[in-house]
Amino acid sequence: MMKDDRWKAAVVTLSDKGYAGEREDKSGPLLCGMLEEAGYDVRKTLLLPDEQNEIEKCLCQLCDDDRMDIVFTTGGTGLSPRDCTPEAALAVADKNVPGIAEAMRLASLKVTPRAMLSRGVSVIRGQTLIITLPGSPKAVKENLEAVLPSLGHGLAILTGRAGECAR
Ligand code: MTE
Repeated sequence: MMKDDRWKAAVVTLSDKGYAGEREDKSGPLLCGMLEEAGYDVRKTLLLPDEQNEIEKCLCQLCDDDRMDIVFTTGGTGLSPRDCTPEAALAVADKNVPGIAEAMRLASLKVTPRAMLSRGVSVIRGQTLIITLPGSPKAVKENLEAVLPSLGHGLAILTGRAGECAR
């Protein structure tokens, strides 16, 4: 069998309403579709409530046990009292990768001034990149499109598949 060298990805939707079955999760499936189209191997999709402890545990498992190359979350990045996705990601992070979140907000601000209301972060745990996207399908698409072209190179360096940046 051919070795599958696609990046292993997980998608985690954070939404109290989605978890309670009160709202259909459209962002998770959209994110999976975009990633698969871009050549990622989406191995796990999860839906959790906005509970920081649960999110932290889930992220640790995806990074440490499942050895994902990249984990995307959607939702819980805003200013509502229950929003805690960035806090969960930062709590389990080894390193911050601010440029990815900066690029997402920079691109998003050209679409809507409300982009400033996402507190999304991008961090590394072990050899896994974690990127927290806002919750709406529109925001997922706009944010992901802004960074997707550069992620492969970052992952190649993070995981040791590429030694250095070609000039
Ligand atoms: N970014 C883009 N590109 N497009 C959007 O429509 N919505 C913003 C922001 N980022 C948006 C966006 C809004 S209205 C909010 S409240 C924040 O993301 C946080 O979203 P979240 O709480 O669903 O994570």
